Amino acid sequence: SRLLVLHGPNLNLLGTREPAIYGDTDLNQINQRLTRQAGSAGVDIECLQSNAEHVLVERIQQAPHDRMGGIIINPAAFTHTSVALRDALAAVAIPFIEVHLSNIHAREPFRQHSYFSDIARGVIAGFGPLGYELALSALLANTERN
Ligand code: DQA
Repeated sequence: SRLLVLHGPNLNLLGTREPAIYGDTDLNQINQRLTRQAGSAGVDIECLQSNAEHVLVERIQQAPHDRMGGIIINPAAFTHTSVALRDALAAVAIPFIEVHLSNIHAREPFRQHSYFSDIARGVIAGFGPLGYELALSALLANTERN
């Protein structure tokens, strides 16, 4: 089985984007760490970032056909807006973990509602890039090797 890592809008700017909130690690570094971590567990991962909702919806729809056994997703701003992404994840019924770099519950009220959390396997927020590694560990614990 394989795992899919999805990053939503503006996460391509990580490293320079509001570093006081999101840190100075860029997206390539995050993806490289995840790829290495998955590799040592003998699991193949694919990472995709998009600023476009439809690209993420289409990637999720394709996931069962690519035999994806789990998804890690930071929906970024779509967390708080996207019924379409939620519905796509519900439709494919692949277990997913929701990750946020920042603790969204300690921020503005509009960030405190997520369209994903109630159907996620779990939610990790507030640990920066480490959150992705924790999510990957959790998925790997439940993933069959290649
Ligand atoms: C975020 C939190 C969201 O509220 C925000 O829109 C993001 C990033 C996070 O990782 O902390 O873009 O998902």
